[in-house]
Amino acid sequence: MTINWILERVEESTSTNEDLMSRWRANSLWEPIARLALKQTAGRGRMGRSWVSSPNQTLTFSIAYPFTKTIQELSGLSLAIGLAVINGISRATQIPLEDLHQRKLGLKWPNDVLLENKKLAGMLIEGGQLKPGEPTWLIIGIGLNLSKTKALEEHLGREVACLEDLVDPQLLNADIIWLEILKELGLVIDKFENSSFKTFQETWNHWDAYQNKVCQIHQQNQLQFEGIEKGVDSDGVLLIETSEGLKKVISGDVSLRALT
Ligand code: BTN
Repeated sequence: MTINWILERVEESTSTNEDLMSRWRANSLWEPIARLALKQTAGRGRMGRSWVSSPNQTLTFSIAYPFTKTIQELSGLSLAIGLAVINGISRATQIPLEDLHQRKLGLKWPNDVLLENKKLAGMLIEGGQLKPGEPTWLIIGIGLNLSKTKALEEHLGREVACLEDLVDPQLLNADIIWLEILKELGLVIDKFENSSFKTFQETWNHWDAYQNKVCQIHQQNQLQFEGIEKGVDSDGVLLIETSEGLKKVISGDVSLRALT
């Protein structure tokens, strides 16, 4: 089933996630919506961070979708969304998936898209079920760097990746990239509604940028433990082989850092 997204494209928003979240809280979401802003003035990132992007240099949009599954049954969805972003990039740039894999496009648990170990895209999932029996509305926001400036990297204090690192800027069209990602999000959402993360596990592990690397798990900037990253299980739980045995990382409120 393809999803017919209502498309909204605005010049400016504080945050497309916040726009759709306030409609969800006011009970005024009815159909799947995709909202894109050319400029966000207060973009939000994971774990209460802000998401800084320069106008027209980052594709910033959010979707709202009414899932029939409960929030517990949707575990692993955010990982599958990363696969939709990769598929959308492949379709929009016309670079085959395996070429992208070789050029070091990959996923970092739970939901970053990396290019040569630098962040290319991030996503923020919010929402839930307001009352029992109602759909689970999820607001899924995606920020994807199209181009970058030294100023942005200086502001963030780290290098970032952008699609222009992969493809000639003249071949990049933000609207086409948006529509291709939306198509792929529709396919992933439909598959997830009819199955579970298990159907995505093998593919996610194929794209896992940190698999078999020595990694650390940090929570609120405190080191929790370190070990070798072993991909995810059928629920999307991250597996780390430590000197004390296999540890499972369930919460997305942690950060994963590679040492090698
Ligand atoms: C992260 O990596 O921390 C998540 C970044 C998510 C950014 C996107 S941009 C569109 C949408 N609106 C927001 O305010 N945030 C998300």
